[in-house]
Amino acid sequence: MKKILLGLLICAFSNLAIADDGEGMWLPLLLKSLNEAEMQSMGMKMSAEDIYSVNKGSLKDAIVHFGGFCTSELISDQGLLLTNHHCGYGQIQSHSSVGKNYLKDGFWAQNMAAELPNAGLTATFIVRIEDVTKDVFEGVTQKMTLKERQSTIDKNLAAVEQNVKLESHEDVVIKPFYKGNQYFLFVTTTYRDVRLVGAPPESIGKFGSDTDNWVWPRHTGDFALFRIYAGKDNLPADYSEDNVPYKPKHFLPISVDGVEADDFTLVFGFPGRTNQYLPKVAVAQTVDILNPAKIGIRDKALKIVDAEMRKDEATKIKYASKFARIANYWKKWIGESQGIKTTDGIGRKIKFEKEFTEAIAKNKKTKKAYGNILPEFEKLYKAIEPYAQSRDYYNEVMGRNIELFRTASLMKRLIGQYEQNGEAGYLGFRDRLSNYLKDFYKNYSPKIDQQVCSALLDMYIKNAAIKEATTGIYPTPTIRISYPDFIKSLYTKTAFTTQEGLDKIFQMESEAAVAKIKEDPVYKLYVQINDQYNEHVSKPYNEYKEQIDAVQRNYMKALIEVFPEKRFYPDANSTMRVTYGQVKGYQPRDAVTYTPSTYLSGVMEKYKPGDYEFDVPQKLIELYKAKDYGDYGENGKMPVCFIGSNHTTGGNSGSPAIDAHGNLIGLNFDRVWEGTMSDINYDPSICRNIMVDIRYVLFIVDKFAGAKWIVDEMKLVHPKRK
Ligand code: ARG
Ligand code: ASP
Repeated sequence: MKKILLGLLICAFSNLAIADDGEGMWLPLLLKSLNEAEMQSMGMKMSAEDIYSVNKGSLKDAIVHFGGFCTSELISDQGLLLTNHHCGYGQIQSHSSVGKNYLKDGFWAQNMAAELPNAGLTATFIVRIEDVTKDVFEGVTQKMTLKERQSTIDKNLAAVEQNVKLESHEDVVIKPFYKGNQYFLFVTTTYRDVRLVGAPPESIGKFGSDTDNWVWPRHTGDFALFRIYAGKDNLPADYSEDNVPYKPKHFLPISVDGVEADDFTLVFGFPGRTNQYLPKVAVAQTVDILNPAKIGIRDKALKIVDAEMRKDEATKIKYASKFARIANYWKKWIGESQGIKTTDGIGRKIKFEKEFTEAIAKNKKTKKAYGNILPEFEKLYKAIEPYAQSRDYYNEVMGRNIELFRTASLMKRLIGQYEQNGEAGYLGFRDRLSNYLKDFYKNYSPKIDQQVCSALLDMYIKNAAIKEATTGIYPTPTIRISYPDFIKSLYTKTAFTTQEGLDKIFQMESEAAVAKIKEDPVYKLYVQINDQYNEHVSKPYNEYKEQIDAVQRNYMKALIEVFPEKRFYPDANSTMRVTYGQVKGYQPRDAVTYTPSTYLSGVMEKYKPGDYEFDVPQKLIELYKAKDYGDYGENGKMPVCFIGSNHTTGGNSGSPAIDAHGNLIGLNFDRVWEGTMSDINYDPSICRNIMVDIRYVLFIVDKFAGAKWIVDEMKLVHPKRK
């Protein structure tokens, strides 16, 4: 049965246009049928089986989902794991304090015993992938309503999960692909003891910081080293001193021969989310309504936090990670909107939709089945617009930027536990919560949060399109309290701003604790805002969204059917993907050409002594002056970063860049400014991913940090030497 399905899929993709533009995030198990020939024509010397095999060790066994949000790869036979500095940032930060600041000074374990454990950090392997589409659609018919269809699918999903054969240390997840036209199952193994081995100082690992973020030319050594530990049986185990370094099925050898323009590159990892098949009306909504709303909110929040971070070092450490996270997508959305405008993304969608309309009109059957899709999209996106805008407002303001309300939302879940599962539910959740909150309060300043709240809650009330969501939040007419006083009183009266406040509640009997929480003014306000949101925004939003998703599923099906000569890849969904391209510069605008590599001389050009973004460590300056690059330099220069035409997105951070033979040549960490719209509107001429040159990583570990013992563990190779 599986063979037939695969056959169908291949049929759908026959007549593949051979392009070398790098677009696409492909499923490893379909490379053989869809991509191998093209990859080899672009210079790859491996087979699809070398990349993904269930039966023998292959590249995929070296690719690890890091914490569920980034990618990492094994680079030694002792479980040594390479990922980005910004992926390990939270961990590096959590081991830091003012006296022992690993963010500022870097951290290098002197030996394995000195590596630092990280509670909660995981490393997940993909054991195998299976197409389960047929089983998931068992009993689904055209005539079903959306609800009936979904409930049949849900039942089937549960049955497939039940029936899959797993070892005791394995897990399973099933995910929809091609907008729900296909389902794949993933068997995974997750390791739970992952320790920090080394990280450069921020002045290397985050060089250029937010100014250079999403920008080429780039000079950031965005890497960190971890190690996976296992039980004596090499299987996952909770942290223990007795655990031993994990022995991988495969790890990546490292090429020290460098890269040049047009070299084949493959990026292997876990891209998070893309939206390549949106209709024009949805892209326009993103650019005109949703992005500006989110950008405006974060603008305000960032300004407030930035001003406080500049005042003292303790605040800077506390808020560094949060600030970077908020600033990252704030900047991305700005670039995305700009990029869609400059590449005429809307115009391109209009042209494509015209082509689509003509293609379906050629045949009565397709016209009947798909003729309604675009008009439906128009109607539904218009209808969802105010709800989508208010939802983004709510999520940004209540769910992300005002931390006090995030705490309140956790309290609401705690009470939910009590009401549904009684004492036991309450106690279990309380203990988890209290652990989580211990870390949270270490990096929390009520003073900063109060300013953020004051600015953002007001924006939500004034700007959210659905007014019923916000009426009555601010109680002026009854209580006659000024807005600033209203916010101030929230922060003074609540128990949620300090660890002590909550500890007091958590020490009470459950019933008393629940009553106490319910009386808290912040809890009350949160519940009010949340209820109004659920009723007036979330409910209608979800109803429209469900219909949009159904139309989108049909659209995807139609595209595959009516454009058999085009090759479609599924949108990213945090599952393992392969993307490939070449080392390549680009022309961002008239008369400007970017070459694909940067060098240490460029770090020195950007150097601003004392500046928190562009300072350079003294030791690095000395190595530069002495040209002391060991075996890692190239004609007297030290390479730092390079770009390529690989199609990547958030989640691909930490992904390996692999050469034609399967060796590691770089470490993916970002994309270029002009191409940040690639999630919605990929343009091969300007979409580039940014990687750290692996030789820079080796140079920093060996020459800068003097941690040669770590390099000695790796396998360095020379594939280009004759
Ligand atoms: N833009 C990259 C990615 O989306 C790197 C982000 C980390 N760096 C930063 N300065 N915030 O995640
Ligand atoms: N920097 C991103 C990440 O963290 C990668 C990207 O968006 O290109 O995954």
